[in-house]
Amino acid sequence: MKRKPSRSPATTDVRIRLLQNRDEARVFARMMARSEPWLTLRRSAADMFELLTDPLLEVYVALKGDLLAGVVVVNMQGAFTGYIRGLAVVPQWRNCKVGAQLLKFAEDRIFRDSPNVFLCVSGFNPRAQRFYRRLGYQRIGELRNYVIAGASEILMRKTIGPKIGFKPGRSERAGSQ
Ligand SMILES: CC(C)(COP(=O)(O)OP(=O)(O)OC[C@H]1O[C@@H](n2cnc3c(N)ncnc32)[C@H](O)[C@@H]1OP(=O)(O)O)[C@@H](O)C(=O)NCCC(=O)NCCS
Repeated sequence: MKRKPSRSPATTDVRIRLLQNRDEARVFARMMARSEPWLTLRRSAADMFELLTDPLLEVYVALKGDLLAGVVVVNMQGAFTGYIRGLAVVPQWRNCKVGAQLLKFAEDRIFRDSPNVFLCVSGFNPRAQRFYRRLGYQRIGELRNYVIAGASEILMRKTIGPKIGFKPGRSERAGSQ
């Protein structure tokens, strides 16, 4: 029997671990600074390197074999615990579900300690907004002129329930608000 061709994009299974050193940070910093949305947001490689080496943040990388395929930056400190500061996939690995796997990894990590995941996505980045919506994120509000004049950042949230009653350590996942 003939198999129906699949229309879904190819999935690349990746291994995810903590960023190991400054060389890895440098690779991602350069890649992000050359890519949208950071080009429009005028974030330099030095800015991104500072973010990726901030000791207060948790930085996880996706590897395909030995190759660096993507990065996610998680902030577990402060009022907005569980804030994703950055998510980027190396251009040649985009649309292979590397981003979806990194996001799920970050969510599992955050939901162990807190019932909310927050992130910002640029108003001029509709494809990334669609990516997050499909994965259960809801738009909370618009931060106008937040990073640069004339552009908005959209604050999004995914939650598994209210803070009161949340039991750390139990990573029960649900997509509803
Ligand atoms: C957004 C991003 C993390 C998604 O990771 P990915 O591995 O490419 O995505 P997946 O294969 O899991 O899902 C595919 C979806 O990603 C989004 N996407 C793909 N390429 C994208 C790009 N260059 N820019 C923005 N979103 C993109 C689209 O929604 C796509 O679905 P679609 O083809 O139906 O539009 C990744 O594409 C990326 O790094 N983009 C550039 C940086 C960026 O926009 N980061 C988010 C900042 S908040």
